[in-house]
Amino acid sequence: MTDGMFITFEGIDGSGKSTQARLLAETLKNDGLDVVLTREPGGSPGAEQIRALVLEGDPDRWSAETELLLFTAARRDHLERLIRPSISDGKIVISDRFADSSRIYQGSRSGDLRAMVDDLHNLMIRQEPDLTFIIDMDPDTGLARAKGRGGTEERFEDFGAGLQAQMRTGFLALAQEYSDRCVVVDGGRAIGDVAADVVRIARERLA
Ligand code: ADP
Ligand code: TYD
Repeated sequence: MTDGMFITFEGIDGSGKSTQARLLAETLKNDGLDVVLTREPGGSPGAEQIRALVLEGDPDRWSAETELLLFTAARRDHLERLIRPSISDGKIVISDRFADSSRIYQGSRSGDLRAMVDDLHNLMIRQEPDLTFIIDMDPDTGLARAKGRGGTEERFEDFGAGLQAQMRTGFLALAQEYSDRCVVVDGGRAIGDVAADVVRIARERLA
């Protein structure tokens, strides 16, 4: 059996990642492919428990370093239990966020933790996606969409539009840093138009 493929969606909160990940998964399933749709933080039972620890409660609950360790612990469990076994089985794994989110969110919080993010990634994760969609979006629109969703997971959305703008710039820089696997897609259009681009690009890479 040949290895499958690992596709990730990245971008600021409310940019449409979850929507696009779900639509791509549905389309590729209809194409007859074996698809696993997952998300971070989470994606495995243990990582989902860590998700509740990092996304709910007091925003100052964790130091930036502790938070990075928790995201990395969740990712390691997700990788061991779902991502690697599925890729080895020849499946297409589609994840709503992965390591690029830590590079941007943790990497730019409270000074510059990016070197620490990279060290931990090299030590504990090492896996990179084959293809990453960076859904680019105006920060105010993204924030309004994310707030419209409601719920208790507001830890990062609560940092506001200034931080969203900083994250957007970070993701666009990341797309250049990892230009071999990253594709920037304009998320400020109708859902179907964004999905058409995503599906076309994914099919090209799969071919
Ligand atoms: P993310 O996972 O990036 O936070 P979601 O996919 O959850 O974003 O989308 C956030 C909200 O915006 C949802 O209510 C979703 O239905 C809506 N939405 C997603 N994409 C679009 C779009 N292209 N145009 C308008 N609304 C959208
Ligand atoms: P997510 O559920 O994807 O939020 P949204 O749908 O609003 O984009 O992710 C939850 C939050 O976790 C989001 O604000 C980004 C943050 N996050 C990190 O800070 N680091 C990480 O490594 C990951 C995976 C997510």
